[in-house]
Amino acid sequence: MVLQLFGQSMYDQRQERTEWFRDARFGMFIHWGIYAIPARGEWVRNQERISLEDYQPYFDSFNPVDYNPKEWARIAKEAGMKYAVITAKHHDGFCLFDSRYTDYKATNTPAGRDLIREFVDAFRAQGIKVGFYYSLIDWHHPDYPNVGNHPMAGQPEWDKKKYNWDNYLKYMHKQVEELVTNYGKIDIMWFDYSFEAYQGEKWKASELVQMVRKYQPGILVDNRLGGNMEMENPQLYAGDFEGPEQIIPSETVVDELGRPIPWESCVTLNNAWGYERYSTYKSSTDIIRTLVNCVSKNGNLLLNVGPDALGNIPTASKNILQEVGAWLKTNGESIYGCGPANLAKPEWGWYTQRGDTLYAHILEQSIGQYYLKTLKGNVNQGRMLIDGSEVHLGEFWNGGTAKPFVAKDDLFMSLGKPIQVTHPLPDKHDSVVRLIKK
Ligand code: GLC
Repeated sequence: MVLQLFGQSMYDQRQERTEWFRDARFGMFIHWGIYAIPARGEWVRNQERISLEDYQPYFDSFNPVDYNPKEWARIAKEAGMKYAVITAKHHDGFCLFDSRYTDYKATNTPAGRDLIREFVDAFRAQGIKVGFYYSLIDWHHPDYPNVGNHPMAGQPEWDKKKYNWDNYLKYMHKQVEELVTNYGKIDIMWFDYSFEAYQGEKWKASELVQMVRKYQPGILVDNRLGGNMEMENPQLYAGDFEGPEQIIPSETVVDELGRPIPWESCVTLNNAWGYERYSTYKSSTDIIRTLVNCVSKNGNLLLNVGPDALGNIPTASKNILQEVGAWLKTNGESIYGCGPANLAKPEWGWYTQRGDTLYAHILEQSIGQYYLKTLKGNVNQGRMLIDGSEVHLGEFWNGGTAKPFVAKDDLFMSLGKPIQVTHPLPDKHDSVVRLIKK
């Protein structure tokens, strides 16, 4: 039985809440904190077993003199990103926002101000929706237990330490309350993460989500508080979208009734979330194709940048984002508001679809004509998005239907004439063709 609330199922409510999100398709993830100074990723304290005392100099000297979120927002906008999620607090417990409940915050570093406030203002001014990442894990709070993922786990004097879990929960809930009450309308709360026994009600997750929604009725919540979004009637805290990390699902994501579930893959541009001085980057082609892959399966891409200790988005990241943005300027109509086509994945690329308009994303140059399997009679006009030029749709060039490798309902596409020869793809990232029936 599907639970009805005010005549609308929970599933329908979630579909309604996530409508903008499913249209937006592309967002910016920002991992930024005092770990930008060691420049070895945001897990550095854990990976190198750095004590609080030895981590303190990063706090004392955090002075991002170049921090200009208007510039970040400009970069995101130019890249075609429609929302942004920033680490208000990461696992190290350091807060970019001015929390009343801790001294471990940007206002007490040489930065001397609430860095989240400026972020929110700058991104909103560009029409970009804003979200907060908030770490459930906290390596700084004295009442956070010395569990496995704590940098001090296994150290005898830490393992003996007493802690008061309820105190930590109060702190965590209060901080989240600050985030959802002090910064105007917030579009996404992105909690991270649950593990082992630390799941769901261990975080008092129902209470937490109820509080968040009380202040922000339309807000989206990620799925890392625990619970199972795929159940017919998921827990209140199970979330609004699935969040695969560093992977693109192999097909659309559905619940146990087969209904589509919103999802968002979060992906790094290089090999860490937080700033790394030395890192290997993906290419703009990789990113564009990853975005298309997501949309073709009804998902979003949340692409990460890790600004450095001065507050700059790394040049390598900026360059990739610029190329992605240039591609989206021409091809955005095949991404925003689009989702899967009800067609098998073609061997030369992917399809996306919005309403009756189908988009063929050609990644691999074909020998001669391209198969548009099962599409005969369904589309009869094709235009390349890159320049509005026509493609040729029709039969297999050599009297085809009799041949065993051509099915009756196969349509064939050629990028030029003569139709049987190989025409080079106009866009090395992804050449998109708009296909319609006139
Ligand atoms: C993981 C990591 C974290 C990163 C996040 C992004 O949970 O612990 O460092 O922020 O994933 O998805």
